[in-house]
Amino acid sequence: MPERKKILISRQLPDAVTERALANYDATINTLDDPYTADTLIDLCQGMEGLLCTITNDLSRSVIERLPQSVRVIATFSVGFEHIDLAAAKERGIVVTNTPGVLSEATADIALLLMLGASRRAREGAQMIDRGWSGWTPTQLMGIQMTAKRLGIFGMGEIGQAVATRARAFGMEIHYHNRTRLKPELEQGAHYYNSPEGLLAVSDFLSLHCPLTPETRHFMNAERIALLPQNPVIINTARGPVVDDDALIVALKSGRVAAAGLDVFEGEPNLNPGYLDCPNAFLLPHLGSATVETRNAMGFTALDNLDAFFGGGEPPNRIA
Ligand code: DGY
Repeated sequence: MPERKKILISRQLPDAVTERALANYDATINTLDDPYTADTLIDLCQGMEGLLCTITNDLSRSVIERLPQSVRVIATFSVGFEHIDLAAAKERGIVVTNTPGVLSEATADIALLLMLGASRRAREGAQMIDRGWSGWTPTQLMGIQMTAKRLGIFGMGEIGQAVATRARAFGMEIHYHNRTRLKPELEQGAHYYNSPEGLLAVSDFLSLHCPLTPETRHFMNAERIALLPQNPVIINTARGPVVDDDALIVALKSGRVAAAGLDVFEGEPNLNPGYLDCPNAFLLPHLGSATVETRNAMGFTALDNLDAFFGGGEPPNRIA
């Protein structure tokens, strides 16, 4: 029987994924499920050939440079990889993989939940129930209807397209910006804008689906918020830092932005406390991919990548 490879799994994973990992690897698992500090992660990587990490692990250049030489592959349990310095990994000859594709549907579901929750004032409604509801009135918690509104999708990859599919069922008109225009069969009548600013001007609802890059950091700032139509609803299931929190909080408080639905936050889990004072901010704790089916699929994808690497093949989702 071939020797089982030693891997570190940096967080607790769904049971089915853990079972498969333990069956095929000499796996050390973070059973306490606390986010390792960089020093702990580096220490625990001693003698490990692979690291299965998550978005809660900082794998910036200074950490990658201190990883033991034994580590040859990093498989992140995520589609996003801004927590890993790919250039530093390449320089060290470490292969890096991610989990694209498998979380698009679950994340699109959460985007719709946020659109409904924000536009229909679900946070205020839930608070009203908790605090003691005095009864129905004709003007109570009137929200914004999604039907016939223009939905701007910033980033029309798999998740953006899955959001468009769902939003069409709500009778929304789809507009989008993407680096490259989609083929007509994927566009399905959606209106394309070659500039983000063109898209913003028509977005009654704006849903962010771009990766976090130096160009998209604080993309949604005061200047761009000012380009939106009146009373827009802003949705973020991408990455927290795509939004300039201070600018959005000012706009939510003044009413320039009617509502926001946010699943991701800059500096999460320590979100900007200003959001807590905004009843028109409908907030979730990074639940985008949090279904049993999707989290299993993410784990299996990460293991498929490790299996391919250790089997001497090309990992299917190699990003470095
Ligand atoms: C990812 O995979 O990048 C998500 O943010 C985790 O759900």
